[in-house]
Amino acid sequence: MAYKIVTLFLLLTLSLPLNLQCTRSPNWIRGGYWHAHSELPIAEIHSALFSHLMCAFAFINSSTYNIFINSTSEQFFVIFTNTVKHRNPSVVTLLSIWGGAIFSSMINQSSNRKSFIKSSVEMARFNGFHGLDLHGVLPDKGTNITKLGTLFDEWRAESQLLLVMTSHHLPALESVSYPLDSMQRNLDWIHVLNFDYYLPTRDNFTGAHSALYSSSRWFNTNDTVLGLPYHGYAWTLVNPDENPVGSPATGPAITIDGSVGFKFIKGFIRDYGYGAASVYNHSYVMNFFSAKTTWVNFDGVETIRSKVSFAKEKGLLGYHAFQLSNDDKWELYSAEKQPADVGNYREIRSSGHAV
Ligand SMILES: *[C@@H]1O[C@H](CO)[C@@H](O)[C@H](O)[C@H]1NC(C)=O
Ligand SMILES: *[C@@H]1O[C@H](CO)[C@@H](O)[C@H](O)[C@H]1NC(C)=O
Ligand SMILES: *[C@@H]1O[C@H](CO)[C@@H](O)[C@H](O)[C@H]1NC(C)=O
Ligand SMILES: *[C@@H]1O[C@H](CO)[C@@H](O)[C@H](O)[C@H]1NC(C)=O
Ligand SMILES: *[C@@H]1O[C@H](CO)[C@@H](O)[C@H](O)[C@H]1NC(C)=O
Ligand SMILES: *[C@@H]1O[C@H](CO)[C@@H](O)[C@H](O)[C@H]1NC(C)=O
Ligand SMILES: *[C@@H]1O[C@H](CO)[C@@H](O)[C@H](O)[C@H]1NC(C)=O
Repeated sequence: MAYKIVTLFLLLTLSLPLNLQCTRSPNWIRGGYWHAHSELPIAEIHSALFSHLMCAFAFINSSTYNIFINSTSEQFFVIFTNTVKHRNPSVVTLLSIWGGAIFSSMINQSSNRKSFIKSSVEMARFNGFHGLDLHGVLPDKGTNITKLGTLFDEWRAESQLLLVMTSHHLPALESVSYPLDSMQRNLDWIHVLNFDYYLPTRDNFTGAHSALYSSSRWFNTNDTVLGLPYHGYAWTLVNPDENPVGSPATGPAITIDGSVGFKFIKGFIRDYGYGAASVYNHSYVMNFFSAKTTWVNFDGVETIRSKVSFAKEKGLLGYHAFQLSNDDKWELYSAEKQPADVGNYREIRSSGHAV
């Protein structure tokens, strides 16, 4: 198991060596995702806290490659921009499109890309969005990634809207490399999903799902936006007394897949913590909580503060939160304003090897 963990650490620190030269980029992005299926009403989004708000998700029709919004959420997308501008007239909104499984065949053919581009630009304009975000792009073996670059060239030629891509850390497929030249030319910035590295449904040991690693090369660019998860993961421990990172686990705890929103985690600790509190570990830059056989790791206030300081220190373009309804009365989102424990990032890799 130790070998497996070390390997994962190395693979997951593969990175996006981007150095976008974008003149339109704002100085510091405070972004947040609102999800149409969340319980947070749009009117309650504290939009004064944000520079950018993403409305998620539109989908790609698998036969026409046109963008569509689920009929149950259409009403929300129409009012989104006007509603959030009510509290903050300068907030910038983006329509977030789920790339999903259909993404590979969309980029594959010129006519498919055309439908996607035309419909996405029209939908953004029609609903008053300032930009588009291609989200959940996870290439597989059948993906011709060169054509993602073609898509970005064509998308940019068609529109002056803000164009953004949201990507996981490069997947543990060494063969995939993103079309960096095209991304530099055409995109305004990149959201990186720096989380979900370890999952209770997949990994039978406890893992720090969003630990901040020091070796990521893409931190050297000023055009990436750090992803902050407002959810954590809960594992069921094999042995309640063996609870460091990397301990044997039998699967998820608390929910079916172990994913738990910050607000819910706080309630869980209060109600089932037997007086125990969560612990912030500044080597991992993570909050941990363990009671009996339940083991949880998540981004608490200290974690968020440290990550935001880190992003500033490294000259990143900002951060984005995923997703807003998991916050607890804007506690995580307000964390930036408090002083940070910047931690000792150099310890991170060695503690990775130690587990
Ligand atoms: C996709 O487009 C086809 C053709 O216009 C339509 O019949 C179908 O209902 C659409 N699917 C979805 C999920 O919107
Ligand atoms: C559309 O919304 C319904 C109801 O929330 C949901 O069951 C369905 O999965 C959604 N469809 C898509 C494509 O997201
Ligand atoms: C892309 O197009 C080629 C040739 O038209 C086809 O063989 C291939 O299956 C397509 N790939 C995807 C992912 O759609
Ligand atoms: C991928 O797309 C590029 C550009 O369209 C093309 O030149 C190349 O042959 C394609 N590669 C494969 C494996 O289909
Ligand atoms: C975890 O899975 C590995 C193989 O993938 C197995 O060798 C190991 O025994 C499993 N551990 C537990 C605690 O189930
Ligand atoms: C953080 O975790 C590492 C690895 O488990 C451990 O060695 C270290 O003592 C912890 N630090 C704190 C402050 O808890
Ligand atoms: C990022 O921005 C900082 C501050 O503006 C600057 O000092 C640094 O050189 C930039 N880094 C890159 C890689 O452009």
